[in-house]
Amino acid sequence: MHFLHLALSLLTASSTAFALEPLTVKGRKFFQNDTQFYIKGVAYQPKVDAEFTTTIVDPLADAANKNCSGDAQLIRSLGANTIRVYSVNASLDHDKCMNAFKNESIYVFLDVANPSTGIDRTDPTWTSTGYDAYKQVVDVFSKYNNTAGFFAGNEVVNNASNVPSAAYVRSAVRDLKSYIKSKKYRSIPVGYAGADIPGIRNELAAYLTCNATKSPHDNVTEVDFLGYNNYEWCGQSDFYKSGYAARTNELQDITVPIFFSEFGCNIISPRVFSEVQTIYSKNMTDVWSGGIVYEFSEEVNGYGLVNITSDGERVKNTDFENLQKQWASINPEKVSKLSYNTTDISLPECPTRNETSWPVTSEAFPVTPNATFCEDAVKNLHCSVQGEAEGSKIGQVLGELCYYDQEACADISSDSYNGHYGKFTGCTGKQQLSLALDAYTKHHGDDACSWGGIGVLS
Ligand SMILES: *[C@@H]1O[C@H](CO)[C@@H](O)[C@H](O)[C@H]1NC(C)=O
Ligand SMILES: *[C@@H]1O[C@H](CO)[C@@H](O)[C@H](O)[C@H]1NC(C)=O
Ligand SMILES: *[C@@H]1O[C@H](CO)[C@@H](O)[C@H](O)[C@H]1NC(C)=O
Ligand SMILES: *[C@@H]1O[C@H](CO)[C@@H](O)[C@H](O)[C@H]1NC(C)=O
Ligand SMILES: *[C@@H]1O[C@H](CO)[C@@H](O)[C@H](O)[C@H]1NC(C)=O
Ligand SMILES: *[C@@H]1O[C@H](CO)[C@@H](O)[C@H](O)[C@H]1NC(C)=O
Ligand SMILES: *[C@@H]1O[C@H](CO)[C@@H](O)[C@H](O)[C@H]1NC(C)=O
Ligand SMILES: *[C@@H]1O[C@H](CO)[C@@H](O)[C@H](O)[C@H]1NC(C)=O
Ligand SMILES: *[C@@H]1O[C@H](CO)[C@@H](O)[C@H](O)[C@H]1NC(C)=O
Ligand SMILES: *[C@@H]1O[C@H](CO)[C@@H](O)[C@H](O)[C@H]1NC(C)=O
Ligand SMILES: *[C@@H]1O[C@H](CO)[C@@H](O)[C@H](O)[C@H]1NC(C)=O
Ligand SMILES: *[C@@H]1O[C@H](CO)[C@@H](O)[C@H](O)[C@H]1NC(C)=O
Repeated sequence: MHFLHLALSLLTASSTAFALEPLTVKGRKFFQNDTQFYIKGVAYQPKVDAEFTTTIVDPLADAANKNCSGDAQLIRSLGANTIRVYSVNASLDHDKCMNAFKNESIYVFLDVANPSTGIDRTDPTWTSTGYDAYKQVVDVFSKYNNTAGFFAGNEVVNNASNVPSAAYVRSAVRDLKSYIKSKKYRSIPVGYAGADIPGIRNELAAYLTCNATKSPHDNVTEVDFLGYNNYEWCGQSDFYKSGYAARTNELQDITVPIFFSEFGCNIISPRVFSEVQTIYSKNMTDVWSGGIVYEFSEEVNGYGLVNITSDGERVKNTDFENLQKQWASINPEKVSKLSYNTTDISLPECPTRNETSWPVTSEAFPVTPNATFCEDAVKNLHCSVQGEAEGSKIGQVLGELCYYDQEACADISSDSYNGHYGKFTGCTGKQQLSLALDAYTKHHGDDACSWGGIGVLS
């Protein structure tokens, strides 16, 4: 009896102390310990208990998701080794959920943005508001060995008209990498998940990985990995017909690990996931590191591997069984980290700036937000914004003021085509308006401070 009791407690102790080596990046590949790692992932964003999730549905929050452990086991049984989570609330506890996934040897790729903090593709900015929000996510998740990487953005650029937002993504990557380093966290890779947009997808991949030597941060701004949301393979297709062959050929010189950050077209249902045989075959594994299937739970868009009933039960769809069989039958060739020779890998040239097709230079990137610098700058202004101010009001007044007096706005304006980023562009909207109003008042006299009823003289 005593012996049995002892054995059981040892078992419990060793299962809680179960160690999982963090993934690492070398050259174009991921590694777990000394062995190459292929992502077999599932997007995981079930609509868990709304009471605990306010505006963000955080499926890794212990209070909101009571069944992380059950889901982790189910996802393990599917044959997956990774999940991707799109939004979390950094002020909640995540220890239990992250542990439940670690317990099943499941790694987590995490988007640092959520709908309210992400870079706006039509009016991109990179300010301390966004940077602080991203840092909080990094602070919370960097302590877990199974955090595989951070996406600094998901499909921010989604057509030629919003290409300039890529510059802001690159700055976010740069600043998160330097933040992780400054906090002496494990060097968790920082990447980006791109949309599959013909005409710009290859330029974007080059832009985010290229050697931008003229930037003051030349060797730290590039992404550590690239995800690529791809739905080209529908039903029974093949390497060529699907477009995979062309994508592989186009991206063969990318210097960082790349993978499908989403895949699994659902135009033909049930999904047979025949693409799995190709993704993990020699045709693709020199260039790709696997992919993440969209998605775990059935939501309005109909991609669920399981349905979640009103009492929380998970009911498998045929897609689940199909994917499980596919993943069970592959065995991609793996290289060892030690023998993997990366000396031939050198960073690519940056894409050439072009007014219509690639309207952003690689010679400069948006400034690093610095809250202290901004607070100091607005401290002793003659004219400034006091109290609370609505974001939309700030935007409206700035728009009008900068239209009439461009000079007053020089330090808060940016131009991604020419690589001009004013020194106050990393400040908050309210700080920027104070700085612009102050400059405007200097040009036009004290009465001008009251523009929009928002400025106050001191
Ligand atoms: C985390 O990984 C390190 C190796 O980098 C290992 O020494 C440690 O035991 C792991 N910790 C856990 C809790 O898995
Ligand atoms: C990785 O190494 C750890 C010890 O550091 C070991 O416990 C674990 O089983 C290894 N994992 C694999 C997949 O080899
Ligand atoms: C994050 O969680 C905190 C604590 O429950 C809550 O007050 C806050 O509103 C949540 N934030 C969002 C954006 O959901
Ligand atoms: C860890 O995994 C084991 C085996 O699957 C399971 O019995 C146990 O409940 C899990 N623990 C946690 C904390 O998820
Ligand atoms: C970038 O270059 C600087 C100066 O040469 C060096 O100290 C730093 O380690 C480099 N950083 C990376 C990430 O390679
Ligand atoms: C790999 O490519 C060859 C042609 O080069 C093709 O015949 C074969 O079907 C492909 N294999 C897979 C698994 O897609
Ligand atoms: C928990 O998850 C498991 C596996 O996903 C599922 O079978 C079970 O029904 C869930 N239980 C509850 C109470 O949600
Ligand atoms: C899951 O839900 C979808 C959408 O409501 C439905 O079409 C499908 O039949 C359900 N699957 C199962 C196994 O109940
Ligand atoms: C790596 O490859 C380069 C040429 O591509 C070769 O010169 C070098 O000796 C190789 N290094 C190792 C350790 O094999
Ligand atoms: C970037 O380009 C510069 C100039 O060509 C070169 O000196 C440097 O080694 C390159 N950096 C990397 C990391 O390839
Ligand atoms: C810019 O791109 C367009 C469309 O790809 C092309 O027609 C044009 O020649 C390019 N302009 C320059 C100056 O390269
Ligand atoms: C931020 O700005 C302050 C005030 O100008 C300066 O002292 C500090 O060095 C800056 N911090 C960074 C990380 O550049």
